[in-house]
Amino acid sequence: MKLNKTLSVIISLFLLLACNQKNNLKSDNIFKNGVVVTAHYLASEVGTDILKQGGNAFDAAVAVQFALAVVYPRAGNIGGGGFAVIRTAKGESISLDFREKAPKASFEDMYLDSLGNVIDGLSQTGHLAVGVPGSVDGMVNLHQKYGKLTWTKLLQPAIDLAREGIKLSKLEADKLNAYRERICEVNSDKYDCCYVCQKDFQVGELLVNKDLEEVLIRIRDKGRDGFYSGKTADLIVEEIQNGNGLITYADLKDYKSIWRPALVGNYRDCKIISMPPPSSGGIALLQLLKGAEIFDFQKYSPGSFEHIHLMVELERRVYADRATWLGDPDYCSVPVNKLLSEDYLVNRFSNIGMDKKSNSQEIKAGNVEVIESFETTHFSIVDKWGNAVSVTTTLNGNYGSKVIVKGGGFFLNNEMDDFSIKPGVPNQFGLVGGKANAIEPEKRMLSSMTPTIIEKNGKLFMVTGSPGGSTIITSVFQNIINAVEFKMNPQDCVNAPRIHSQWLPDKVYAEIDAISPSVKRGLQDLGHVIQEQSRIGMMANIAINGDGLLVGAPDTLRHKDSRAIGY
Ligand code: GLY
Repeated sequence: MKLNKTLSVIISLFLLLACNQKNNLKSDNIFKNGVVVTAHYLASEVGTDILKQGGNAFDAAVAVQFALAVVYPRAGNIGGGGFAVIRTAKGESISLDFREKAPKASFEDMYLDSLGNVIDGLSQTGHLAVGVPGSVDGMVNLHQKYGKLTWTKLLQPAIDLAREGIKLSKLEADKLNAYRERICEVNSDKYDCCYVCQKDFQVGELLVNKDLEEVLIRIRDKGRDGFYSGKTADLIVEEIQNGNGLITYADLKDYKSIWRPALVGNYRDCKIISMPPPSSGGIALLQLLKGAEIFDFQKYSPGSFEHIHLMVELERRVYADRATWLGDPDYCSVPVNKLLSEDYLVNRFSNIGMDKKSNSQEIKAGNVEVIESFETTHFSIVDKWGNAVSVTTTLNGNYGSKVIVKGGGFFLNNEMDDFSIKPGVPNQFGLVGGKANAIEPEKRMLSSMTPTIIEKNGKLFMVTGSPGGSTIITSVFQNIINAVEFKMNPQDCVNAPRIHSQWLPDKVYAEIDAISPSVKRGLQDLGHVIQEQSRIGMMANIAINGDGLLVGAPDTLRHKDSRAIGY
């Protein structure tokens, strides 16, 4: 009797615990008033605090952008650029282009030697690789048009984090240690003052960045002038000149972020709102989604032979279009309507067969490899009014050019490598390009960033995006077809294993478990070359559930520090 009673107490306690855990799981990710999904829990906290103070999604985005520059220095930035796609509570959409620009003194062959050969690494590491940063001007512009709270309020959390220090997570400590040698080589003249070069980083160690705190205070007090002129501009120009780079005071003074109409297209019963050129992301995404519709992907199960083969074949053609036609629309004419027209796409995909693999070399010659890491970062935010913002921001590679501004404590981008530095020669992501994306003074380099918002029946349905260089487009594509074709819930869309293919190299990159052994055999029989990749993309999703609540779906599986925080 006594034993029975004890057993029943234990069972009740167990059930209660299990129930609580379930509820906790739910309440961890479902929110009523607003949610912020970023690659770092501290940045997600900053964004949510701004929402709680009465700020809107755009205020939170500004605060998160600056916070990421402190807590996630390998991709979060003030020395880089990015794109924001916006859908207001009223259903209006727009995009903000704060992409970096080529310096005024740049020229088409600047990374080639006298024989016309590419000088190894020059567009990727060091001062010549740096494009004119756009993030600070972008945030000023975003705040001026849509902000509710004061600029000071939005900058303060990042300033506090830089002053008080952040406890290094394992991910960040490991990454800093892994890149330490390369960073210190580039910044060798300031070995004793550059925070990365002093010693190995430990997990849990407090990272204080006084130089960055001062830069952020200047931005707080002077707005764009706190970065593009005065002391910060002095530090940037001095740094660049010491390293024989090209950026001048005039480059900084003249940098302007640009509001552009968002790229909007239909797919199934959804309206896709994404980034127009100078990103290739929106165009490529819409082309791929149209392909999924033409081939009626919902007929197939996720991970099946048909699903993977068709994705690869679509991607091959879309990335070939990207390489040929896309560039900065202010410098070349991008045939957006043609590339997205139904007639064009039906014809473009008409030679895809289930029983044959097409050969990328036949589409255009070239033989390239993916060499570098796939960094950049993405965050998604929705507020209680229903405003939504999807921001992808980058230094390009991990820690960008590896150049730290002396006395500024922040990294500068290596975005110049996103230009086609020589026709047919691959960049760090293995992407090739031609005239449309050739270097010209003050031109923006082509990007793959794909911040995207999806509407269904006139209502907000999903906010999404990913880092990952050339794999951004295919990650966002798979995330959307997981939701729309395969009806997965938002977290499953993010967790599902991904593949990536991009015309050249003629390969299929696949996360472990993305392709079952039998499907792999079938694909190999057709001639597909499959290469395992530890991680592809890192989604930050927000979806609206049937009750109108906000479901945050971070990619914690691939990146432990990611978090959805809301209230
Ligand atoms: N730097 C990566 C991209 O913009 O695509």
